[in-house]
Order: sequence, then structure tokens, then C-alpha cells
Amino acid sequence: MTDNDLWNGWQVIGRGANRVCVELDDAPDQCLKFVVVDGQPAPAARWPKIAGALAAELALYQALRRRHGPDLDAHFAACLAVEPTRYGPALRCRRVQHADGRPARSLYQQFDDPRSLSRPALGEAIDRLEAFLRGQGIPLFDVNPANLLAVERPGGAIDLVVVDLKSALKSKEWVPLSRWLPFMRDRKLARRFARLRRRLDDVRAAAVP
Ligand SMILES: Nc1ncnc2c1ncn2[C@@H]1O[C@H](COP(=O)(O)OP(=O)(O)O)[C@@H](O)[C@H]1O
Ligand SMILES: [Mg+2]
Repeated sequence: MTDNDLWNGWQVIGRGANRVCVELDDAPDQCLKFVVVDGQPAPAARWPKIAGALAAELALYQALRRRHGPDLDAHFAACLAVEPTRYGPALRCRRVQHADGRPARSLYQQFDDPRSLSRPALGEAIDRLEAFLRGQGIPLFDVNPANLLAVERPGGAIDLVVVDLKSALKSKEWVPLSRWLPFMRDRKLARRFARLRRRLDDVRAAAVP
């Protein structure tokens, strides 16, 4: 992604495998996410299905927010609405930014930047997200670095913020929220976070000249 990456006239914040996330001039603290096919808006025949999937993601976010309250806000970007647009249904979300308004970058994007990678605060951020999910009993097993945005907090700490719940919806694991035995859930979370830390260690080792 470049700084002047545009999608149908909107400034692009980020692109994933399925969606493009764009900036809103009239709401700088929010963003819109569109499902794309080969970079283009999805064909209208797919809009009902896409709207259903976005609504399910919104509903999962709302259920989490009801259950965990404002504690959730440090680690999950709010999903606000599903909106019809001329390019198909879009998910409106709270935009993840640093306190001074600079855009937050994903953990994946930091992998390309040896200077931000070397910060101990990044490892501590991974520890804190794991502690939060375990402490609250949230079975978010898909901790893909492209879905975790690193936000600098006043004082220098970093928080990782989850921006994509779609994969959690697809995996059947999320659905029986309450059926997970705590020790199984914690063991699985520990495995996934160990894998994420190994990945960070590997990227750090490769970045050393
Ligand atoms: N709420 C948000 N705030 C800021 N950037 C975001 C937000 N949601 C997504 N992004 C950016 O857009 C990218 C793609 O979004 P994502 O929802 O993960 O799409 P996909 O469904 O393709 O995985 C992310 O990696 C991130 O860079
Ligand atoms: Mg994603």
C-alpha cells in the first residue's frame, strides 16, 4: 500500500485478502470496509450474502461489547453499522489510530520495519493481549498479525487492537462461546500466542544485519 492508494475515490487505510478499508472525510475517527473481488467492488449478485456476513460480524462484536463492557475497547475496534452503498454493503468501524491521530499500523506491517520491531513494548503488547483474552475468557484464536493494529499509548506502551472478527466467525470454535472449558480455551490461546511470539522472534532474527 502507498500513501496515495485510492479505491473508488477514497483514501485506502489498509487492504486484506478480502476487504479494503477506507478513510472517511466526514468522519475521520471511523472507516468503511468493503468486500472486494480482484480489487473491484463485489458484483451485486453477492451483496445479500456479503451483507449477511458483515451483519454477523457486527452482531459478534456487539455481543462481546455487551458481555465485557468498556474493558473491551482497548483491544477490539468497535463495529458500528452495516451500510448499503453504491459499491455494495460496507461495515462501518471505529478507526484505530494513535492518540495524536496518526494511523496505527498492523503488527504485520511492523515486520518490515526493523526499528519498530526491536521495541520491547511490542513483545509486552502481545503478552497483554493474551492476558486480556484469557482474563476475560474470549476465545479469539485467530491472532493473525495483519488483524492486530499496534497503538501507541501515552507513556510509550503499545496495545494490540483486533480489527477483524470474520475469521473467528468462520471457525466453529467461536460459536459455543460458553461451551469452551476454560482450561482448554486457555491452552489453545497459549498455543496460538506462542506461535505469534515465535513468528516475531523469527522476523526479528532475520532483521539483524
Ligand atoms: N478499524 C480499523 N482501523 C484502522 N485500520 C483498519 C481497521 N480495520 C481494518 N483496517 C486495515 O485494513 C486491513 C484489512 O482489514 P480486514 O478487516 O482485516 O480485511 P480482510 O477481511 O481482507 O482481512 C487491516 O489489515 C488494517 O490494516
Ligand atoms: Mg483481516
